[in-house]
Amino acid sequence: RSAALAARGPQPAQVQAAATTERVTVLYGSQTGNARRVAEQLAKKLEASGLPARLVRADAYPQRELTQERQLFVVISTQGEGEPPDDARGLVDFIAGRRAPRLPALRYAVLGLGDSSYPQFCLIGRQLDARLAELGATRLDPLAEADVDLDEVAAPWTAKALERAHEVLKAPAAAVRAPLLQAVPSHAAHDRENPFAAAVLANQRIVSRDSAREVLHLELSLESSGLSYRPGDALGVWPRNPPALVQQWLELLRLDGEAEVTHSGRTLPLVRWLAEERELTRLARGFALAHARTGGDAALVRLLDDPATLSTLLDTHQPIDLLRRHPGRWDAAALVAALRPLTPRLYSIASSAAAVGDEVHLTVATVDYQAFGERHWGAASAFLAASAEDARVPVFVEANERFHLPADDARDVIMIGPGTGVAPFRGFVQERRESGARGRNWLFFGNRHFSDDFLYQVEWQEALKQGALHRLDLAFSRDGADKVYVQHRLRERGKELYAWLSEGAHLYVCGDATHMARDVHAALVDIAAEHGGLSREDAGAWLADLLQQGRYARDVY
Ligand code: 2AM
Repeated sequence: RSAALAARGPQPAQVQAAATTERVTVLYGSQTGNARRVAEQLAKKLEASGLPARLVRADAYPQRELTQERQLFVVISTQGEGEPPDDARGLVDFIAGRRAPRLPALRYAVLGLGDSSYPQFCLIGRQLDARLAELGATRLDPLAEADVDLDEVAAPWTAKALERAHEVLKAPAAAVRAPLLQAVPSHAAHDRENPFAAAVLANQRIVSRDSAREVLHLELSLESSGLSYRPGDALGVWPRNPPALVQQWLELLRLDGEAEVTHSGRTLPLVRWLAEERELTRLARGFALAHARTGGDAALVRLLDDPATLSTLLDTHQPIDLLRRHPGRWDAAALVAALRPLTPRLYSIASSAAAVGDEVHLTVATVDYQAFGERHWGAASAFLAASAEDARVPVFVEANERFHLPADDARDVIMIGPGTGVAPFRGFVQERRESGARGRNWLFFGNRHFSDDFLYQVEWQEALKQGALHRLDLAFSRDGADKVYVQHRLRERGKELYAWLSEGAHLYVCGDATHMARDVHAALVDIAAEHGGLSREDAGAWLADLLQQGRYARDVY
């Protein structure tokens, strides 16, 4: 069995075989696919070098096997305010809990993934790393912490892990390479590192002129790309930074855009480094500190010393704001080295291939706002907004295994997606309509105003008529005197909602993680408590169990 296949779930034959051989387990917890990607790469390299490797997603890991592991490599991300990815909640709780076994025979290494613009950077990786040591396991290497420029840390960590695995298991050095490599399934012609240039077929504004936020509906062609997707998956988009922003950088720093800059063995004109290769719209801790030091701005260095100040600064400033407010000199090469590589953005796919053929649709809220008296952009949304028909957008498909429709089409689905969080549900409803699924579909949608930003209104009404959508509950937050959010509608419908769930419905939440998903979760706990006659604690456990079973799935950001 190949490593990549094992990730799809526990496979009895393989688990048995693994228990009898000296093996290495690569375990991952991933929300957006980055941790999975790194874990897959490590597993493939292990196999290619002749070591039997088992790649397991955290929620498919049989916890009782922990005591039998000799070597464990963990790749795990941290979400928003220090939360584990949904697929790792169960395992993280188990390991942190009092029932966790002693692990004296285990050797391990942890790679934590995170985003240093959040205060709880890599928290879950840190906790796991510390807890495994506490349980008596031996650390093979210190915890590694990867920021959004993931590969800088992940690549050396993977190489090190490979070395360690060989040291510990003393596998034959001249491993049988070729046959094992062939066992790994061939990948799509296009992926993250080799994106497909998708032609823009349509790019329309789908909110009124009065809407405070611009929302676009994009249709891209995947014709002859070899790419396929399922509703719930994401489309990765490699943006280019807004040309106007790149110009502002060059002018502000008095740098020549045509000057050639060599970094990591590549030579490009500075303007291309800035437009295509470097993150200009997200301020990272590393760059803020480097700027303070480079500019010799002692006051700024002191300011950034305070974690709370630093964290607020990272939340409220783009790098150019820092450059404007605290001028300092940069030479081109140092600048390219200090900025993080540009990373692709993931958008929930808003279509079903069963309905749209070789197209893929996106629902994009553009990030374009005034701050400190200047216009600011989000890299990917500005790039997409500027992509007129026939423009090409570099894309790839990022599977989202935990956010797919139930395999059993007789199951009911409940979809909660305010704002652009509604995107994947457009794909769900299309798919269930095309496949003639037997289960019912219930959508909760919310936005500010019925008349301005009722996204895909006509399509939902059509779907209701056709019987492809069975229930639609709406929450327009600014049409009345009081705010109405999707969770208010959930509570109003609590009795039926609980009945649907008790009968096996699958529930999906997509959209804002910090406020919406948290408030929706709280509403669900209350609903289970009230209508299921459960204590709040049991209601929480019931929901945790739904999450574990994959019947409560979240795609939140
Ligand atoms: P608001 O902007 O009026 O606060 C999509 O952004 C919709 O989600 C908007 O109607 C927005 O309302 C609403 N929203 C804001 N905070 C929310 C929360 N905590 N829970 C649910 N919906 C929320």
